[in-house]
Amino acid sequence: PAQQLAVTPPMGWNDWAHYQCNFTSQTILDNAKALIKSGLAAQGYNTVTIDDCWMQKDRDANGDLQPDLMRFPHGVKPVAQAVHALGLKFGIYEDAGYETCGGFAGSGDPNGGGKDHFLQDARLFASWGVDYLKLDGCNVYAPKGTSSEAAYRKAYAAQNAALKQVGRPIVFSESAPAYFQDSPDWYDVLTWVRYYGQLWREGTDIETFDVKKPDAERFDSVLWNYAYNLPLGRFQKPGNWNDADFIIGGDSGITLAETRSQVALWSMMSAPLILSSDLDKLSPQSVAILGNKQIIAVDQDPLGRMATLVKRSSVTDVLFKPLKGGDYAVAVLNRAGKSLQVDLHPSDFGFAASAACKIDAQDLWSGKHQSTLSAAIAPHDTAIWRIHPSTPCGRPNRKGTITM
Ligand code: DGJ
Repeated sequence: PAQQLAVTPPMGWNDWAHYQCNFTSQTILDNAKALIKSGLAAQGYNTVTIDDCWMQKDRDANGDLQPDLMRFPHGVKPVAQAVHALGLKFGIYEDAGYETCGGFAGSGDPNGGGKDHFLQDARLFASWGVDYLKLDGCNVYAPKGTSSEAAYRKAYAAQNAALKQVGRPIVFSESAPAYFQDSPDWYDVLTWVRYYGQLWREGTDIETFDVKKPDAERFDSVLWNYAYNLPLGRFQKPGNWNDADFIIGGDSGITLAETRSQVALWSMMSAPLILSSDLDKLSPQSVAILGNKQIIAVDQDPLGRMATLVKRSSVTDVLFKPLKGGDYAVAVLNRAGKSLQVDLHPSDFGFAASAACKIDAQDLWSGKHQSTLSAAIAPHDTAIWRIHPSTPCGRPNRKGTITM
């Protein structure tokens, strides 16, 4: 039987949110080395992906993609080999339309017909040793009288079929739903992406690094993507993941509290953890947050469940997630600009309200165990616990626990 891909949410690094098109092969290699040196690779961040702008506008005489020789003077293959030599997996970007968002050669047919390059490109990527393909969704052409959704579906199905023919397991990341987030077809697109790939972008881009932008925009975009992703639990299962976009925690414009929030929220959602920052510039504190073993274990939990929103106030979200083996993860986000005291009771999650229900709660930031869910949460920070309920707590009964 075919190997099952991405049984837990993919983890790694991608250049886009920090560098956009301002990178060379050296940038990729420096960050690959930093993944190892920081210890983050050992915590599971194992795939290095090159995003848009690596290729030229035109294909060669054989119709093959050509790397931008200013960025990749020796081509892409030696970079893939160097990444593999570090013990990491190698990912690349293409686009389902006739041009990438950056205006470079895409895989799709400009007329929406069969003159696409999905198979030819899949063969080229396989020959380079590609392990992961992100297929973006700019410039997908729908012929007159046909729907845009049908055009996307045709393209992503074709890429999936092509990947199956090249004799190499390649994780397939689809951007299609992100191009329908304001359309009534969004949910339809979300129902078919699972047949073709292992993860899919469902919403807008996390704000990219730009010295001219106000810092606040970056964390705002983190919260925005979190809110978009949270209701999509029904589309998710091991091997099929909603992708809330990059982890920019630790990068410029994001505080340590905000970094904690992004990692905790993404882990509560079982979202892919794809770092996109200049890894050489991460502070030791950021590295410790991004590499928190216990929180990564919540993200990578074999059940792959999305947290449910148990309580929401104007400043807090309380999230609850079942884990394999009978433990649960609980997180509380403080959106407010001031510190907040929270005191939660097991019955808030539907456990028995009796005094016999005791919990052991491990604060995953400090590692300390406590018997109550009480904490002072700093502005923009997120508290996260792994809880073990005693037998009298019973099974959580979620009826009536959502108070919006
Ligand atoms: C849009 C995608 O959502 C981004 O992640 C990035 O791949 C850019 N396109 C590249 O042009």
